[in-house]
Amino acid sequence: MGWNDEYKKKLCSAKDAVSRIKSGDRVVLGHAAGEPSLLADAMVENAARYQDVEIVHMVAMGKGRYCLPEYEKNFRHNSIFVGACTRKAIEEGRGDFTPIYFSEVPKLFRTTLHPNVLLAQLSPPDEHGYCSFGISNDYTKPAAECADIVIAQINRNMPRTFGDCFIHVSDLDYIVEADMPVIELAPPEITSVEKAIGENCASLIHDGDTLQLGIGAIPDAVLLFLKDKHDLGIHSEMISDGVVTLAEAGVINNKKKVLNNGKFVISFMMGTRKLYDFVDNNPSICMMPIDYVNDPVVIAQNVNIVSINSCVQVDLMGQVCSESIGLRQISAVGGQVDFVRGANMAKNGRTIIAMPSTAAGGKVSKIVSFLDAGATVTTSRCDVNYVVTEYGIAQLKGQTLRERARRLIEIAHPDFHDSLKAEFEKRFKRPF
Ligand code: COA
Repeated sequence: MGWNDEYKKKLCSAKDAVSRIKSGDRVVLGHAAGEPSLLADAMVENAARYQDVEIVHMVAMGKGRYCLPEYEKNFRHNSIFVGACTRKAIEEGRGDFTPIYFSEVPKLFRTTLHPNVLLAQLSPPDEHGYCSFGISNDYTKPAAECADIVIAQINRNMPRTFGDCFIHVSDLDYIVEADMPVIELAPPEITSVEKAIGENCASLIHDGDTLQLGIGAIPDAVLLFLKDKHDLGIHSEMISDGVVTLAEAGVINNKKKVLNNGKFVISFMMGTRKLYDFVDNNPSICMMPIDYVNDPVVIAQNVNIVSINSCVQVDLMGQVCSESIGLRQISAVGGQVDFVRGANMAKNGRTIIAMPSTAAGGKVSKIVSFLDAGATVTTSRCDVNYVVTEYGIAQLKGQTLRERARRLIEIAHPDFHDSLKAEFEKRFKRPF
């Protein structure tokens, strides 16, 4: 049977497809903006048929209805990155959180978290019967390779991207056709504080560097200050709209990359249609699974790679909490440590943790004497290097505890200088 006939044979409605899920199954949902919204909705509408279905999901940009209290007996969310629509369920004990480096998620699926069912969204098959994972390859393709059942939502609006990001129709079990808008993320509004942080970060970036850009407004703010740079490259677990402007201006051209020369190496993306149109059928885009892009050993093969990520708090030793406020899990490690480790190992690699100096409308300092009780150390004090706020840059690697504290206080908000200096003098028994 040719792939065309196979495709037709596997076609079914969303309702029929999700009725293959059984009570007690572990269901992995396609990631971030690649979430197959129609299948996720159909699964929730079918909730009465299931009990204790475990939903494993990372950045949840869809409705996350499987987290609602009324579905407590039907679904239990196991999050590997807590987001807006899943935070409450975890806080209220209706969901769980599994800490894991993003690079290791595929291995987790191959070992302890075997997926019974994967719900994924794909581009339509090409003339050879291959569908692309489009804007979310990350853990979704690796999950497809080990799931018992793969259910695919085929969407003509899903960009067809290149890289190691294809699956053949013969490897799909059920196919649901649904042309609907792909989830979009509007570019964040960039404040004057974020602009100042962006400018400080940009001063650490040189012509020919390869960039990893994390999640949030700060990476976009950094991009604003790179317009006059030349020959930048991208090796990043994710990108958003900001990259397109610089690519179209020729600033990002990947020409100086020693690994994957000429290619944007990415694992997923979150942005608007502008971004999705840019990557569609674009041979310079190389979408790879997350256990390639985020493997510190792969990252380290780049030269001049700069990683830029954000955080919640940094203590005076340089311990970075990026994922919880005290015990309250608000996100996850994601790829932060993968990139910090990889860039630290790379020739002329630089790692930046960038953040506003305060949070909660200026009421709390993000540079603190001690992390909040229960806070997670995401990036350790041995791994951290540059910490950047709107007040400047603190270079920490190789510095003593006393010098780290001094440098960090210098970039803290002036409102908190007195209390931080008092802690410095108590701790180091020396004047600041
Ligand atoms: N004390 C109290 N609250 C704090 C805080 C602090 N020190 N720092 C942040 N917050 C609060 C903010 O006020 C905000 O609250 P709100 O949602 O009620 O407005 C919330 O935490 C999120 O902070 P914000 O600054 O808006 O987040 P962001 O979008 O810039 O993201 C991180 C910052 C740290 C959450 C994000 O970068 C992250 O998840 N990092 C870890 C993962 C990672 O780095 N991956 C790398 C590659 S993608």
